[in-house]
Amino acid sequence: MKKIIDGQRIHKSFTAEKESIKVLRDVSVTIYEGEFIAVMGPSGSGKSTLLYTLSGMDTVDSGKVAFIHHNLTECGEAELADIRRQQMGFVFQQPAFLKNLTIIDNIILPSMRDNRKQVKALTNKAQQLLERTGIGDLADRMTHQVSGGQLQRAGICRALINEPKIIFGDEPTGALNSKSAQEIMDQFLQTNQEGTTIMLVTHDAKVAAQSERVLFMKDGQIVDELQLGKLSNQAIENRTERVTKKMLQVEM
Ligand SMILES: Nc1ncnc2c1ncn2[C@@H]1O[C@H](COP(=O)(O)OP(=O)(O)OP(=O)(O)O)[C@@H](O)[C@H]1O
Ligand SMILES: [Mg+2]
Repeated sequence: MKKIIDGQRIHKSFTAEKESIKVLRDVSVTIYEGEFIAVMGPSGSGKSTLLYTLSGMDTVDSGKVAFIHHNLTECGEAELADIRRQQMGFVFQQPAFLKNLTIIDNIILPSMRDNRKQVKALTNKAQQLLERTGIGDLADRMTHQVSGGQLQRAGICRALINEPKIIFGDEPTGALNSKSAQEIMDQFLQTNQEGTTIMLVTHDAKVAAQSERVLFMKDGQIVDELQLGKLSNQAIENRTERVTKKMLQVEM
C-alpha cells in the first residue's frame, strides 16, 4: 500500500499565558492511499491539532510530515497553500461560505485562482457535484436560504471540486442532527469508494464506526487504534459498539 500522509515523531506546543502546553507529544501516524480514518478522543486531546499539522495548515515544532512526495515540514507557505488548494479538501463543523455569494459561486471560488478562464467548466462540475448530492436545485440560493445539513453537503462539494487526493474533516457532522449527519457520511463513503482518502475527527461513535480505522487520542498521543475494515452491508450497530467500548477504555 502506498503512503499518502506520513507523520513521524511530531511534537507541537502552544504557549498560552506564558505557559507552554504540549499538545502533540511524539505522535507518529501513517495514512495509506484510499483509507478512511477516524480520530476520536476527549476534548483537548489534540485531535484538531493533529489534523492541522498533518495537512500542513499548521507547523510542527519537531518531527516530519510528508504528503506523497512533498516534505510539508520543509515547504514554504506559498507552496503549502498550493498543495492544500490543489490536492487536499477540507470540511469543518461549519462551512465558511461567503454570505453575499450563491452556493454554486462559493463552491467554485477557491478554484478560480488556478483556473480563472474556466469558470464555465468549473460551474458545470459544481452543478454535477450538487446534483449527485441531491441538492442540484439549490445551486443559485444564498447561504441563508438552505438548511445546515444542505450547507454542509455543499461544503463537501466545494472540498471535492479540485478532485483532491485526501479530504480532512474536523467534526464535519458535529453541528447536524443524526439524519443530516448520516447524509454527510453517505457522501464521504461514496467519495472514499471512488478512491479519495479521508481523515475525519469526530466525537460520534456511529460516525467513526463507518470508517475503516479509528485512532484514539489522549493527552497529545495516539494511545490506541481499532482496525474495522471497510464498511460493507453489515449493520453498523456492532461496529459502533466496538468503537464505544474502546473509547471508554481509552478515557478511563
Ligand atoms: N492556537 C492555540 N493556542 C493555544 N492553545 C491551543 C491552540 N490550539 C489548541 N490549543 C490547545 O491545545 C490543546 C489541544 O487542542 P485541540 O484543538 O487539538 O483539541 P481537540 O482534541 O481537537 O479538542 P475538541 O474535541 O474540543 O475539538 C487544547 O488544550 C487547546 O486549548
Ligand atoms: Mg477539535
